[in-house]
This record gives sequence, structure tokens and C-alpha cells, in this order.
Amino acid sequence: MNRVAINLAQGCARINRHIYGHFSEHLGRCIYGGFYVGEDSPIPNVKGIRKDVVAALKHIKIPNLRWPGGCFADEYHWKDGIGAKNDRPKMINTHWGGVTEDNSFGTHEFLELCAQLGCEPYICGNVGSGTVQELSQWVEYCNFDGISPMAGLRAKNGRKEPWKVKFWGIGNESWGCGGNMTAEFYADNYRRYATYARKYGDTSLYKIACGASDFNYDWTRVLMEKAGRFMDGLSLHYYTIPNDWAHKGSAIEFTEAEWFNTMRKAARMEELVHKHGAIMDEFDPERRVGLVVDEWGTWYDVEPGTNPGFLYQQNSLRDALVAGINFNIFNNHAERVQMANIAQTINVLQSVILTEGAKMILTPTYHAFDMYKVHQDAVKLPVYIESETAGGIPAVSASASVDSEDRIHVSLINIDPNNEQKMVLELRGVSLKSLTGQILTSEHMQDHNTFDDADKVKLRPFTDAAISRSTVTVNLPPKSVVTVEIIQG
Ligand code: AHR
Repeated sequence: MNRVAINLAQGCARINRHIYGHFSEHLGRCIYGGFYVGEDSPIPNVKGIRKDVVAALKHIKIPNLRWPGGCFADEYHWKDGIGAKNDRPKMINTHWGGVTEDNSFGTHEFLELCAQLGCEPYICGNVGSGTVQELSQWVEYCNFDGISPMAGLRAKNGRKEPWKVKFWGIGNESWGCGGNMTAEFYADNYRRYATYARKYGDTSLYKIACGASDFNYDWTRVLMEKAGRFMDGLSLHYYTIPNDWAHKGSAIEFTEAEWFNTMRKAARMEELVHKHGAIMDEFDPERRVGLVVDEWGTWYDVEPGTNPGFLYQQNSLRDALVAGINFNIFNNHAERVQMANIAQTINVLQSVILTEGAKMILTPTYHAFDMYKVHQDAVKLPVYIESETAGGIPAVSASASVDSEDRIHVSLINIDPNNEQKMVLELRGVSLKSLTGQILTSEHMQDHNTFDDADKVKLRPFTDAAISRSTVTVNLPPKSVVTVEIIQG
């Protein structure tokens, strides 16, 4: 038997909706073919942006989109991506398949995409191979409302009004593909680049410093010590890889041992958020600086026959559970985690959408985002969990929140692929009236959606729960993600 205790009087921190953010890079078919097909495409589009993709992402309330990378960001020179498309210089995408990037999707197209999605743009600037002036001018180009060289250039390119972009990343993975810098060298550079990323008018910037990879706690310590007071957010990148980097494992052909490995590794996000957060607490006890997990998700071997530089992988029920595990951790650490971005939205790594020409499918991960959108901007309710184990780790994980209309949402995961988990939810200080729910599960742990069978894994109503006063008993089926909505009496 598993127990989850939730005390309504303890609700305090707001779950930032930006925890449910996305990341999209100029990588493989994420931008081109994924979001952007060009205005002359027979695929239905508005200004070159796919209508089906925009509708799907609006449905899950995408709050923000990080762009243009990733490793690509530190080789990207934004002025190559503005003005008449025919005049835009081409470049080699050296990180991702060595393909030619024609720069037809640039700043205007990205900000048009965000406008269509109704989400906040999050632009990652080039520190690795760009200049302070280049980043400073990008901010001016996007945000200055008045007479200036960059505002004039923007108007000449067809956009009079500034976009008022708030979220700016100052480099990406500066310890690796973003310049192979030491923490000390990057901290100094962060201070320099961030200084000239200016506030124009009422657009205050939320500046995000490049943070650590995985378990590199030294990086976090140095950054917080030397540059903490100049930043609003500090990033963290962590990918869930079932085996190791050389043999990551297949997205859809995996064993039960690999299933458990994946769950175990996904659950390590808890340790990362806790330990990086503890170091941040030493320097920032008020928790002013947000932990921004701006790259997370599963990373498998590419699908057989696809370009190894394009990182195209399928997405199964296993991925939906990984998403749910991460969401529960982010929700439960809402005081420190202010943003997170899944890598990557379409056709790359743990995607929520896959496309093939005009066809589009929604992955199990998409449905996890759909189920968890109820937590966006709700008040976190701390959860106390007593769990059975499966494969040597806790079988269930949970998070809970109460929204502005007093509806309580509890999200539950059972990672056990073979056994149902019985749960008792004790909601202290509440009298319960009614309950509805949604479940994501499937017959086999490898089940996934394909272009021929797009709805194999989809959300269904969840009914296996009963209310008695302030207690809910739930039977969580094997390998499932469930969210229940509880109305108070
Ligand atoms: O998401 C793919 C790559 O992973 C990103 O470009 C980089 O930041 C990370 O190493």
C-alpha cells in the first residue's frame, strides 16, 4: 500500500508555468519541416509556420520556447537571419549533420512563431563565437522602441514595434560546445555580456547564465559566487540515457531492465535539483535566482536509417513516464525551479510532436504535457509519500497543486511495469465532493504512436478512484500516469 499525504494549509509557492517550457534548435527537422515549411509549401501554414503544429502546442498551453540552440546558438550570428531571404548568407551547421543552414528562419520568423503560439520567446545568445556587441545589438533590435541603429534596421525589415523579449540566455553549455571555458572564465564573460544586454523602456530582462551539466556542482558554486548577483536564472542540463553515451539504447526496442534503468536515471533529477539548489541557497538564501532546467529529456540511439546528426528518435509510453517524473520533481521544487525546457519540441530527442511531410502525430510525451498543464501557475501543495518499491526504486511519485478556482490536482505515476499500486491520498483540512481523472497507459511498455496508428497511446478517462470524506483511494494501473481533479465540498 502507498500513502500520499497532502496538507492544504501548507500550499505556498506558485508553480511557474514556465516549468512546462520547450526547447527548439536548428537541428535535424525540428525547425525546418517541424515548425517551418515556408510560405510556398502545400502544407497548411501561416507565414510559413505549420498550422497543425501551432494548434497542437496551443492546446497544451506552451508557455515559452527556447531558440536557436543548444550548441547551434554559439555559432549563430543573428544578423545572418534577418532581411530579404535571398540575401541571407548560408552557413554550415557544423554540430548537427554538417548540413547547410540557409537562415530562412531567423529572428522575425521565430518571434512570429511565438506570437502564433501565444508563448514567451526565450532567446539564447552567442557567447562562444559571438561578440558582446553582437548580443547587445540583438537585444536592442528586439526591444528598443525609439530612434536607434537597430530599431531602424528592424523597421526597415518590416517590424516597427519592438517585440519586448524578456528571457535571454547568455551562452549555452559554455563548458562544452559553447566554448570549452572554465567556470571562472565563463563567470567573468557572463558578467561582461550580461552588462550590455540592456533594459529598454519597461522591458526588464530575465538573464539566464549557462549552468552546469549533470553533477558538476563546482560549476554551480563558481557561477553563484562570482556572478550570482548579476543573473536572474542559472541553467542546468540533464539528459536521461538508459545505458551510456556510446550505446544509449533504442527508443522503442528495450528490455524491462532498460525500462528500470531509464526510470532510475530520470528520478536522479531530484538529486540534481536538490544539490544544485542547496549550493544556490548558500549564496542566494532568498531564492531570487531561478534554477532553469533548460534542457532535459530522454536521449536514445537515432532511429535506424536516419541521419545520426539529426537526433531523431521515437517516443513511447516510457517517455511519458519520464516526463511525469520530471514534472513531479519540478512542481515539488517550485520555490527554486522557475523554468524548464524539454529537448526538443519536434522531431528531435524527446519530442512532443513528430512530422513526416504533411503528416503530424502527437507522442505520449505530448499527452503527459496535456495532463500536467493544470499545474501551470497553480499553488504547489507539498506531498509526503510512502511508496512501495519496484526495480529497487520507489514505485510511485506524485505532485499536487490547487488552482485559482480551488480545484485540487494530484498527478501520480506508477513506474512498476507489472503491478498495480494501491494508493491512499489523505487530503488534510479538506472535505471532498467529487473527482474526475485522466490516465495515460498502454498494454506494452514499448507502445508508441506511428503515422499509421496515431492514437495507440492516448489519454483516457480515469475512474478507478473513490472518495470518502477527506481520503481518496486510487488503484494505479501498471506503468501509468494519472492526474485527478478533486472538487472540494
Ligand atoms: O539538445 C541537443 C544538444 O544537447 C544541445 O544542442 C546541447 O546544448 C546539448 O548538449
